Amino acid sequence: MERRAAILGTGHYLPTKVVTNDDLSQLMPTTHEWIHQRTGIRERRFIEESGIGASDLAIPAARMAVEQAGRDMKDVDAVLFATLSPDHQFPGAGCLLIHKLGLPGVPALDVRNQCSGFLYSLSVADAWVRSGVYKNVLVVGAEVHSTGVEFNERGRDVAVLFGDGAGAALVGEATRPEQGILSLELHADGAGAYDLWLEAPASKYDPRLTHEMLDAGKHFPAMNGKQVFRWAAEKMPEVAHSVVKKAGLTMAEIDMLVPHQANMRINQMVAAKLGIPEEKVVHNIEVYGNTTAATIPIGLSESWRSGKIGPGSKVLMAAFGAGFTWGGAVAVL
Ligand code: UT7
Repeated sequence: MERRAAILGTGHYLPTKVVTNDDLSQLMPTTHEWIHQRTGIRERRFIEESGIGASDLAIPAARMAVEQAGRDMKDVDAVLFATLSPDHQFPGAGCLLIHKLGLPGVPALDVRNQCSGFLYSLSVADAWVRSGVYKNVLVVGAEVHSTGVEFNERGRDVAVLFGDGAGAALVGEATRPEQGILSLELHADGAGAYDLWLEAPASKYDPRLTHEMLDAGKHFPAMNGKQVFRWAAEKMPEVAHSVVKKAGLTMAEIDMLVPHQANMRINQMVAAKLGIPEEKVVHNIEVYGNTTAATIPIGLSESWRSGKIGPGSKVLMAAFGAGFTWGGAVAVL
């Protein structure tokens, strides 16, 4: 029988500091009503203090995923780390993570595909496991956004959206015939590259960062929100339909949609276009905001732990983000 890869376990970790919309309104001109009506967000989590990186948030999420899979950390033979907010520009956060997890010599690959980073990583893990290159691949999505947005009028459109957090999945060989990643699709289109980006420091500029750039806020993310919204609302349903078809399933057979969490309205629109009822859609944007590469593994892990999904569940995942990049996957747990 052809070897199939499966998500064997999941984990997540959120920092303890809760930041409400009202808290943000103390820092800049915004209101709970504006944020909640447009995005669905009520609160998000921020790291408790300076010095906590994405690799630190990833540690408990990784341990949880390995444990749920019934594996030992020493069984992990490759790590994929999806993030747009690595601890440092280089080396990759994956290298920091394997050191902290006690995995010397294990390959660590950073994946820089922003909100689609988890699905891009899942695709690599799927290929490695199916081809027999590696047996137990730890896939992590982790972000610290709170240190990289500006809490003032200029940055408020972006600052209200993001939160810190980490999610993880252990991908290994399927052991039951129905289990496994059934389909996966990835896309990118650089035509949207400058609709959601962080300009500097940039190796294309000499010097990479100047005082003028700092004054202009070029080291903070910039977004054309309406353009991103339009693309996400079109591409996520498109790729979702495609992966469900490739998996040989109908939309009605999907037990749970775990979409990226960028905006509650985007996800409601996606679910409506797919004809998936509200009770089969994972939403956690209300309490965590957008945790970028971590949204899908956090959603999977929380749903699994609360019993909404479990072994045998057919899960549909879809993401859209900077790049532009987008993707979808169907997996039977
Ligand atoms: O993870 C993937 C990446 N992100 C996304 O998928 C996000 C997609 N886009 C969106 O979710 C929405 O575009 C936003 C929620 C970001 C923004 O909603 P919008 O309805 O597109 O608002 P807008 O940017 O057009 O801004 C409307 C008004 C502006 O004022 P004027 O020009 O109408 O006077 C903004 O200056 O709201 C103002 N505004 C704010 N007001 C209060 C922008 N940010 C804020 C804020 N609080 N935080």
